[in-house]
Amino acid sequence: MTAKPQDAFEKARKFNRVEEAHAAGLYPYFKAIQHHHGGSVMVDGEEYVLTGSNDYLGLTQDERIKQAARDAVATYGTSCTGSRFLTGTLDIHETLEHELAEFFGKEQVLVFAAGFLACASSVAALTGRHDLIYFDRENHASLYDGFKLANVRNEQLRRFDHNDANDFERLLKEDEGKPGGRIVYTEGVFSMSGHIGVVDKIVEVARRYGCRVVCDDAHATGVLGPLGQGAHYHFNLQNEVDLVVGTFSKSFASVGGFVAGEREVVEWIKHTARPFIFNAALPGPNAAATLEALRIMRSEPEHRERMWKNVNFMRDNLLTLGFDLLGSDSPIIPVLAGDDDTAILFWKGLWAEKIFTTPSLPPAVPKGQSIIRTSYNGAHTQPQLEKALHAFEKVGRELGVIS
Ligand SMILES: Cc1ncc(COP(=O)(O)O)c(C=O)c1O
Repeated sequence: MTAKPQDAFEKARKFNRVEEAHAAGLYPYFKAIQHHHGGSVMVDGEEYVLTGSNDYLGLTQDERIKQAARDAVATYGTSCTGSRFLTGTLDIHETLEHELAEFFGKEQVLVFAAGFLACASSVAALTGRHDLIYFDRENHASLYDGFKLANVRNEQLRRFDHNDANDFERLLKEDEGKPGGRIVYTEGVFSMSGHIGVVDKIVEVARRYGCRVVCDDAHATGVLGPLGQGAHYHFNLQNEVDLVVGTFSKSFASVGGFVAGEREVVEWIKHTARPFIFNAALPGPNAAATLEALRIMRSEPEHRERMWKNVNFMRDNLLTLGFDLLGSDSPIIPVLAGDDDTAILFWKGLWAEKIFTTPSLPPAVPKGQSIIRTSYNGAHTQPQLEKALHAFEKVGRELGVIS
């Protein structure tokens, strides 16, 4: 008789790092929120100032958006229970697509059940066998996983230094004469460093080499541009960014994703992208919440103005205290802790002060550059920001992160 094979689940039983971290009181993740108030949340019956969400405009608690979602439950129920392709398309998906297309200044929009799927679908549908893909070293995991979902081969991938259009051009030059098309992926606002992407420089280089430009605006929609349309409006490149991909899970106070671009390209994605076709549609209540948030975003600039006022207040004060914010120029403000242990202790110190943050450790950030990833929004009150600032100062000094 042959020997029994190894148990494939054995690795899970040996995985005890999480239990050890819990036992030491050093596990910062999966904190269950009992009640959300916008700038603060209740956890275990205690109130914490929340400085790590992606609710940039502070709209998740807006009564009009909540009501739109409730009304949609009454009309559409709680789920589409099927792909957009088959029985999952609702009239509200189409209304949302039309209004988003107008907002983004693009011919057509396609709505997805998640931003992750929108990003993966753009890779899956648009990458031909010989096409070359250029992307920023700091691009989000959804792009990397999109490569895998799309079966893109390593030989097709070119990674350039973060926000470095010269390095991007170097790679394009090396590939001159090679067959296939070229697509570059960048981001409007990078999710960890908080840097605004140099989309203008990327576009300028891409145009000279016949390379298509895709911008992931997950963190830029609602944040950049005169009405929050994103990086292509911020840089006045409405037509030069070929495809905008993004999410409803941040400024839109909902969940879901989109691609926005030329009609033929969006139709192609709609009919060929497996992550779109083989996935149940965005539920009606989420579509309705997104649509209401879009209308508020378009007509009430005060949410964005309040966000920037809060962001500038926090950035100026954290810099004055001596923190290294990695050059962030957006609502995402990473506070550099250094090694992983310091980042975890930093989180623990802030938690004790009733500030809810999360540490970002490798592989989400480079080794030795662990951060407390903070972000500020239109819902934070001045007392909440001041409380957070005092906590950062106290814990930062205790740990020697600042002197
Ligand atoms: C840059 C970026 N792209 C895409 C996504 C995926 O969006 P979603 O949460 O809608 O799947 C995220 C979410 O964290 C993101 O930060």
